[in-house]
Amino acid sequence: MMANYSLSKSWQNTPIGARIIRLFLGITFIYGGWNKATDPGFLDPKSAHYIGAQITSYLDTSPLSFALTHMVEHATVFGWLVMLSEFAIGIATLTGIALELAALGGFFLSITLWLTATWTVKPYFLGSDTAYAILWLALFFLVRQNTKGRRVTSLLPDLGDRREVIRILGIAVASVAAVFVGGKFKTSNPTPETGTAIAKLVDFPVGSTKSFTAADGTAAMLFRTKAGVFAYSTICTHQGCSVSYNSNSNHLICPCHGAQFDPANGGAVISGPTKIALPKINVAVKGTDIVQI
Ligand code: FES
Repeated sequence: MMANYSLSKSWQNTPIGARIIRLFLGITFIYGGWNKATDPGFLDPKSAHYIGAQITSYLDTSPLSFALTHMVEHATVFGWLVMLSEFAIGIATLTGIALELAALGGFFLSITLWLTATWTVKPYFLGSDTAYAILWLALFFLVRQNTKGRRVTSLLPDLGDRREVIRILGIAVASVAAVFVGGKFKTSNPTPETGTAIAKLVDFPVGSTKSFTAADGTAAMLFRTKAGVFAYSTICTHQGCSVSYNSNSNHLICPCHGAQFDPANGGAVISGPTKIALPKINVAVKGTDIVQI
């Protein structure tokens, strides 16, 4: 059976409360996708904004860490998926095409982001993903309830309807196009110049560590020990995952294949599938600051 589609009807048939939620979530998810598509560092393993670096930073705290460990290895693919999903969900929500499915997709994406990116935000209501998850769920039931008694009752789009399939393909194409258009608007990374203060000496006592972005845009980590200050790139020399500092072992550890590096010994490899030490980043104390030189 053919399901007639009309953009204006999809809005007219939505209760006023659901229209407000739909408009807000649709625009916000497209904006979320756009933000990532125009971020020059999001898919760049050298960048501190790299999706892999973000996932790595959730490993210690997220209840999904068992799954994240595998995702770090395929972080770029995952980054693409997140961008495309945000665009697709946002466009579907605004156009009303497969709206219930889009609302469920938005719900699951928000729950995933809550269990990873905003899991440590306390109290929970300060993290936006919990509110998004509830809004998506409310939208789903508002639309579902409104649909009951009408012809369309299936949650899944009618794949036997050629026009419905074309509309869904249209959303997929629009999402891919949005990612590529976003790529054209990428701005260069605002990276600090050599000589810019990375930390104030007084705020960075012996034993401290700090993540920062080096002058060439590389994600890096600064250390201070009794021997002085030093820094390394945090991009693993095996296959480019982001290493993180483990304060129990005092090592930099790669979540992908377990390489371990010793920051107290020139970033040398302790174990793992690489033989190459982490690249050193030259830093020094200048006056009251620690700077890259
Ligand atoms: S990328 Fe393989 S151990 Fe780091």
